[in-house]
Amino acid sequence: MIISSSTDYREAARRRLPPFLFHYIDGGANAERTLGKNVEDLSDLALRQRVLKSVGSVDISTSFFDEKVSMPVALAPVGLTGMYARRGEVQAARAAAKKGIPLTLSTVSVCPIEEVQAAVDRPIWFQLYVLRDRGFMKNALERAWAAGIRKLVFTVDMPVPGSRYRDAHSGMSGPNAPLRRMIQAVMHPTWAFDVGLFGRPHDLGNVSAYRQQKTNLADYVGWLGQNFDPSIGWQDLEWIRDFWKGPMIIKGILDPDDARDAVRFGADGIVVSNHGGRQLDGVLSSAKALPAIADAVKGDLTILADSGIRSGLDVVRMLAQGADGVMIGRAFVYALAAAGAAGVENLLDLFAKEMQVAMTLTGARSIAEISADSLVKAVAAA
Ligand SMILES: Cc1cc2nc3c(=O)[nH]c(=O)nc-3n(C[C@H](O)[C@H](O)[C@H](O)COP(=O)(O)O)c2cc1C
Repeated sequence: MIISSSTDYREAARRRLPPFLFHYIDGGANAERTLGKNVEDLSDLALRQRVLKSVGSVDISTSFFDEKVSMPVALAPVGLTGMYARRGEVQAARAAAKKGIPLTLSTVSVCPIEEVQAAVDRPIWFQLYVLRDRGFMKNALERAWAAGIRKLVFTVDMPVPGSRYRDAHSGMSGPNAPLRRMIQAVMHPTWAFDVGLFGRPHDLGNVSAYRQQKTNLADYVGWLGQNFDPSIGWQDLEWIRDFWKGPMIIKGILDPDDARDAVRFGADGIVVSNHGGRQLDGVLSSAKALPAIADAVKGDLTILADSGIRSGLDVVRMLAQGADGVMIGRAFVYALAAAGAAGVENLLDLFAKEMQVAMTLTGARSIAEISADSLVKAVAAA
């Protein structure tokens, strides 16, 4: 099929993956209202076309956390990426490094920290969940640091897992899930051979390394369910702040008061995020939440934003709303599932081209020149 956008990659991923995996990626919490609004609210922001501004060439490179990036984008942490493509985290890290941006490795990756970092020269970022098992957290941090990782993304919007109705219907969970998954795999032989057979081991690499035992998909669901910690507060993060000597980025901020708390805590950055609409359905889209957060803390720490970004235009929109950079989740995962590392590279090229068009036609020569003025105000406020 012809691929010219992340929408095309989504369709290609839908065809290639067993449904339980496609819907795990594609779905959100409950009625998926926030999932939908993330995309809609962002694409509703009207870019302000300016012409004859002698823009010339456009530079989309920038830096965050003292790291040069070819564009203000990082790949978001996505659990189980090694199920969507063969050794998926490694492929995604290679594509990101080749295109000059970081990959954030999820706590619940299939490939362990060491395997992914060894595959690329560029240091990856590591994402950690707040888990009951503090021994695991400490072990993961030590291993990340030893591998050369310095940027820690701490995800705080999952004290409990959200209700994802699609998973029960698709066979990810629910009655006869293992049997249904097996039947789906047989019906998708390209995936079954490439990933199902040759992409093994299919365990949670970081968890297995710590528990010294293999974990399968059912273990994953069980372990996650038992380990999220709703009793967590800022004070519980202090030891990590003391322990981790590199930049610490708090992911899952949606309210200006929480952003201020992150500044007080001493975070180096935040990710304005509702977890791609996978946690609390009904909360604000990131696009709508971002301006008030930027008003509250811009300049005090680095602001990244995610949830709903599907194109280079969306990157420019998030920057115009006050972000210093963005993370992309599903958009890169669809491309990875559809076409591996080459798919992610192509997607990042598409994003870069789209950013260049958007910047040229809004009169911004550099990332620093993207501002609230890049949007039509009346429409942005509507
Ligand atoms: C399949 C899937 C798995 C995810 N796993 C994680 C994870 O392990 N850790 C985390 O912090 N966020 C996780 N997220 C959330 C992403 O990091 C990111 O916030 C979200 O995908 C952004 O929204 P978008 O997909 O609309 O770009 C996951 C998202 C998806 C789609």
